[in-house]
Amino acid sequence: MAPQTTSAMTICNFKGGVAKTTTAVNLAGSLAREGHAVLLVDCDPQGNASEMFLTEDEIAGTLRSVIAERVPVREVIRPTRIDGLHVLPAGFDLALLDKELVVSAAGEKRIERALRPVRGEYAYLIFDTGPNLSHLTLGALVAAEHIIIPVSAAVWSMSALAKFMGWIDEQRKDEVVEAALLGLLATMVDSRTRIGRAVVSEIHESGHPSFETAIPKRTAAEDAVADRLVTGDPGMHPDLADAYKAFAAEVAERAGRRRGGAHRAAAG
Ligand SMILES: Nc1ncnc2c1ncn2[C@@H]1O[C@H](COP(=O)(O)OP(=O)(O)OP(=O)(O)O)[C@@H](O)[C@H]1O
Ligand SMILES: [Mg+2]
Repeated sequence: MAPQTTSAMTICNFKGGVAKTTTAVNLAGSLAREGHAVLLVDCDPQGNASEMFLTEDEIAGTLRSVIAERVPVREVIRPTRIDGLHVLPAGFDLALLDKELVVSAAGEKRIERALRPVRGEYAYLIFDTGPNLSHLTLGALVAAEHIIIPVSAAVWSMSALAKFMGWIDEQRKDEVVEAALLGLLATMVDSRTRIGRAVVSEIHESGHPSFETAIPKRTAAEDAVADRLVTGDPGMHPDLADAYKAFAAEVAERAGRRRGGAHRAAAG
């Protein structure tokens, strides 16, 4: 495969259940269906993103196999039922990897290093992360240039977001993380509720970049996980499919614009 410019993006929020994985798998599926080569890197020991596309039998190694056991990354990456979408799976052993990264020299750079041999083969690397400030999350942030933070339209979301952004800023000050926020994404939005409307406007007025698209709250999202459906699959609820498709278009546009900016800056 010819080398291409890669955009690497980490989907993260230390608050649990805000639709990080739902966002990662639908973004990955949408971009692949638009014809891009996409690698979804599952950095969460829960392994939910991996399970959306792979059965246990199809997984022969995880990110830990690559980093701790030196298995070549290509042997662990798996193709999926969606053309152009590959997954670097996670498993429960990532909980162990997290501890190993803490004690290993430059542990926060190990995920980025593990992906170097294949990075150029993909237009997008998408990292799904767990609900914590683990070394896996930090490693995914170090490996990316873009950060996407899903924020659920619920009570406490904005205070959790402020704490999380504070932690990212500390990593940036220490020059551990260089990635910039591509945008906040409002998820599980029920515009009939006061809190639903309030969180969306707070996101847009926060002074941080945010996506125009908001992901609506639909009970069909649970069924989609049970049935392993993502955007573009027949049977996916059209409101969710349309929203994630629009979000993916915004991501592609912003990542492209940033990349163009970086090239112009480098050239000038
Ligand atoms: N738009 C939506 N409307 C309703 N429910 C949703 C929506 N998006 C996701 N959910 C549901 O919310 C739950 C949490 O979603 P998801 O697993 O994507 O969150 P997460 O942030 O990855 O969680 P964790 O912090 O455990 O990794 C799931 O049951 C999912 O089906
Ligand atoms: Mg998750």
